[in-house]
Order: sequence, then C-alpha cells, then structure tokens
Amino acid sequence: MKTHIWDLRQYERNLTSYDGIEDIKSIFEKGGLIAIPTETVYGLGGDARNNQAIEKIYEAKGRPSDNPLIVHIHELDQLKAFTDELTKEIKLLMNAFWPGPISFILPLRKGYLCDRVSGGLNSIAVRMPSHPIGRQLLQLIDIPIAAPSANLSGRPSPTTFDHVYHDLDGRIDGIVNGDQSEEGLESTVLDCTQYPYRIARPGSITKSMIEAVLPNSVVTKTPLNTDKPIAPGMKYKHYSPDTPIKILENFHTKPSSNENWSKVAFIVPQSHREIVPDQAKFIPLCKDENDIKGANHNLYHILHRLDQDYDIEHAYIFSFSLNDNTTAIMNRMMKAANQNVVKGDEL
Ligand code: TXA
Ligand code: MG
Repeated sequence: MKTHIWDLRQYERNLTSYDGIEDIKSIFEKGGLIAIPTETVYGLGGDARNNQAIEKIYEAKGRPSDNPLIVHIHELDQLKAFTDELTKEIKLLMNAFWPGPISFILPLRKGYLCDRVSGGLNSIAVRMPSHPIGRQLLQLIDIPIAAPSANLSGRPSPTTFDHVYHDLDGRIDGIVNGDQSEEGLESTVLDCTQYPYRIARPGSITKSMIEAVLPNSVVTKTPLNTDKPIAPGMKYKHYSPDTPIKILENFHTKPSSNENWSKVAFIVPQSHREIVPDQAKFIPLCKDENDIKGANHNLYHILHRLDQDYDIEHAYIFSFSLNDNTTAIMNRMMKAANQNVVKGDEL
C-alpha cells in the first residue's frame, strides 16, 4: 500500500486554508487509516463508527483486539451519540483539562460506535486533543476518530512524523506531519465508570491536578506495575526499543568499575553528565532531575533513536524519585526496561 504524506506543519494557525482536507476526510469516510499528530503522541486514526476501519487499525499495529481504543472528538456534543448525560463532576474535569492530555472512560451507549472500538466492554475512552493541527483536523472532518498510538504494538509510541513513518509506512493510507508532539507521553486515562475515579494509566495530568479541581475524587495511587491492570493495554509489554535498558537508581557518583563502557549509553539529565563514564555514550534526558516535562517530551524520541543511531549493547536510564509528577514517566520507563533496576553506586 502506498502511504500518502501530508506535511501540514505550516497550517498550525489556519488549516481551513489548506485545500486537501476533503481528500483526508474522504479517506476516513471510506474506512481508511491516517496517522494524525496529537500533543501527547501521534495516533493511528480511523472512523470509530466503521468496523472495517477498526479491524484495519488492529491489523496495521499488530495489536491484540481485546485492547480497546480511545475515541477522539473535537466538541462535547459528539458524546451525546454514544454516552449518557455527563455528570456535573465529569463536566467540571472536562472543562478544566480539555482540550488536552487526558482521556475519560465513560459508560458506553451501544449502537453508534462500532463494537470493536471498545473491545466488547460497556465503557468507552474519549479524548479531545489540543494539538493545533490535530484539533483542527478533527474539527474539519467532524467524525469521531478512534486512534491508538501510531506505532507497531510493543514498540515505543511515536512523537514525530519519522517515528510513525518508520513503523507504519506501507501499512496505512497516510500520515499527517504536524511536528514533534509537545507532551511526549500518552494521555492520562481516568476511569470514570465508578466514583471515586481511578487512574487507569498515569500521564501528565496527575492525581493532584485532578483533585485540585475535584477534591478526593481519585481513589488510588497508580502502582507502577500491576498484575491486574484497569486498562487492558497496560498488561502488554510496551514501549520497548530493541536495545536492552536498565533503570539506574541512586546515580550520584561516577561508576568505579573498570568495565568497558564504550558500548553503553547513559540516558541521564544534563546535570549528571560529569559522572557518566568517559567512554560511555551520554544521551541527555532533560535539564536536571526536576525537569520532568523535558524528560516526558524527550523519552520516546530517545528510545526510538537508541536502536537506530547508536552502536551500543545496552543503556541505563535515570530513575526519578517517585512522586505525583514522575509517576507517568517512571511507569513508561519501567516497562521499557522490563522492570530491570540497578543501583548507580553498585556500577
Ligand atoms: O495520548 C493518547 O492517549 C494516545 C493519543 C493518540 O491520543 N492514544 C493512546 O491510545 O495512547 P492507546 O490505544 O495506545 O492506549 C489506550 C489505553 C490502552 O491502555 C487501553 O487499554 C485503555 O487506554 N483503554 C481504552 N479504552 C478503555 C476502556 N473502555 N476501559 C479501560 N481501558 C481502556
Ligand atoms: Mg499505545
């Protein structure tokens, strides 16, 4: 299949002036798949009402079909076709965080969306992205778009056009280039099918941010690794590059062993550069250990580059001390590292 490329980076302000929108819309209407930029990661979009489109999404990604998809909308009115009246609590949260990097799992009213989108569950995850191009696209095509991250299943999520192209060129109808995703980690997924709500997947909208809007509304802290995950997708090995990675805790001093470091990368904050062994590859993760936003933004790009750009055998990645802000990145890094943790002072 020939994958068409739309470079829409110059239309951030006004996508209506681009005359190819009808082509994109008609591909979606015919059940085709197009990867679109969002502020979290790129999504592989298909018409959420069209069973064939959804089947193709699972196929293109090589994704287990019991793993439900997030439906992307551009206005609250679209929800009326497939969920019940929103409670005032949920409206409050949507007003506070949408458009933006949080998905809400709501009770599903069946009949409008195709069954495969929700993987047979009675609930549906929805999100209104804020990405300047992604948002305008959703407005102009005005179709509820189911979109998982636009990567092959098990690979790191894509935060640039190149990442999508690498994984999905030839497997989908097209890719919209909308520059690098600002956030860099997938959205927070908040399960609102019972109260208090539960965080099914941590993201940059944290428990304390949600509770600042709606006190005591979130029931549990999200564990980094759960045997019985709430979001089915959390149980699969995820986000992994081919290069083996270990989480590096307590990295405060230069390693003392005389290991051959030339095939090892250290993915650590700029502030820790001086204690990286001289022969090792230093890959800056962010400015310092408080720069979580920077680390979120860079993580997947680094994981993608590890396999392609570096001649290394394995990599260490910096462990942030765990708090509300770092839960999301530690969750992704633990998965990428397959839960492998080493102590910096033992190297
Ligand atoms: O930031 C994001 O959320 C990106 C962009 C493209 O919007 N999308 C994304 O989708 O990460 P995906 O399919 O890779 O991850 C969706 C997660 C999965 O872990 C899935 O199991 C969970 O949300 N999920 C979706 N619907 C659910 C439901 N009804 N109940 C429980 N978990 C659900
Ligand atoms: Mg994904």
